[in-house]
Amino acid sequence: MTMVDQFLWVIFPYLCIATFIVGHVFRYRTDQFGWTAKSSEFLEKKQLMIGSLLFHIGIIPVIAGHVVGLGVPKEWTRAVGISDHLYHMGAIWVGGFFGVVTFLGMFILTSRRFTIKSVRKLSSTSDLIVNALLLFIVFIGMYSVIGTSVTQPDFDYRDSISIWFRSLLIFRADASFMSQVPLAFQLHVISGFLITAMWPFTRLVHVWSVPLNYVGRSYIIYRKHRSE
Ligand code: HEM
Repeated sequence: MTMVDQFLWVIFPYLCIATFIVGHVFRYRTDQFGWTAKSSEFLEKKQLMIGSLLFHIGIIPVIAGHVVGLGVPKEWTRAVGISDHLYHMGAIWVGGFFGVVTFLGMFILTSRRFTIKSVRKLSSTSDLIVNALLLFIVFIGMYSVIGTSVTQPDFDYRDSISIWFRSLLIFRADASFMSQVPLAFQLHVISGFLITAMWPFTRLVHVWSVPLNYVGRSYIIYRKHRSE
């Protein structure tokens, strides 16, 4: 294992995680009025609606897939009767399907941001980079899953990436699990960590302000009229 491996799979991810945490605290304390998704709906509505809907419908199951795929050891899924083959097929077909939905959404959102003049004018460099980087991450994630299943059908990310990821979480990061992983997966993981580090300084902070209380709230809030 080289110094580069140690940097990429031990130092870099921890740097990104630390930047993510400290960056959010800093942004929250210094820029609460700038904590926004910076909507551009008033400039263009149709593409935003389709792109945003597809992206968000896709990314939620994709995130759930990441949590299970990276967080749950093979032995546990086997113990509940899910064979490795069944899991792999599910990851390819179900993961692949939602990956395509996410990609389509991100493609529409990115082309909208770059090609519609008024939207582009209102975009900061950070907005443009976030869109382009997300598109790249989703594309290379899809390519890793679909491409690798053709070129290296025996490769199972749960024997390498997932073990490395868990080693990272328990502060015993072991770069050897990542050094032999296909390049597309390596690029996917590095760019995933890169966006994690950039997150607090971009419009992505809006994710933490999703108004979940809307789900259970009544449509109209009635107040009793108190006549004194
Ligand atoms: C930061 C650490 C990340 C790691 C370690 C990681 C790891 C992986 C792995 C192992 C796969 C293959 C999953 C499979 O075959 O089912 C994958 C696929 C994928 N990833 Fe990531 N990923 C990361 C971040 C991200 C981010 C930030 C995004 C999106 C913004 C993303 C989007 C996708 C997509 C769309 C796929 C293909 C569809 C799927 O199977 O879920 N990933 N990723």
